[in-house]
Order: sequence, then structure tokens, then C-alpha cells
Amino acid sequence: MNVMIHWQGRSLPFKPGETVGSALFRAGVMQFGRAATGQARALFCGIGQCQGCLIRVDGRVSEACLLPCRDGMLVTPFEGDENV
Ligand code: FES
Repeated sequence: MNVMIHWQGRSLPFKPGETVGSALFRAGVMQFGRAATGQARALFCGIGQCQGCLIRVDGRVSEACLLPCRDGMLVTPFEGDENV
């Protein structure tokens, strides 16, 4: 059975226990959005400290490096610097 998250019109498979950040990175997604400064959002620390990997999952802002994948998640870029 394939389990998928959804990103920008693509369905991406993930492995059991894999984080959203890892699944995106493994699928070749290197940029998760863009901060108000113009800096790209992406995996950096991988441990929830830098906030560089912020994304929206089903409408809520989350750290991609910490959030485990669930089948059917709708993952979208997080743009700007809204309060989280
Ligand atoms: S990569 Fe630093 S908080 Fe996720």
C-alpha cells in the first residue's frame, strides 16, 4: 500500500516514521517556501531549532523536520513571516 503526502500537485510517498521534511527532501524538494526577507525556507538544523523548514500542513504552520508524515497530508509552502 502506498502512503502519500501531497505537495504542489504532486503525490509523494513516504516511509513509516519519516518526517515531512525528509519526504520532501527525498523527493527533490529543496525549498519549502520563502521568508519575508526573501530567504528560502529549507531544511537546515533538522532538530526543530532554526525554524527554517516551516511549512503549512492542512492549513497549520509546522516544522517539517519534526512532523511525522500521515497519509493524505496536504503540505503547502509557508510564505512570509506570520506569527506561528
Ligand atoms: S530544519 Fe531547523 S527547525 Fe526544521
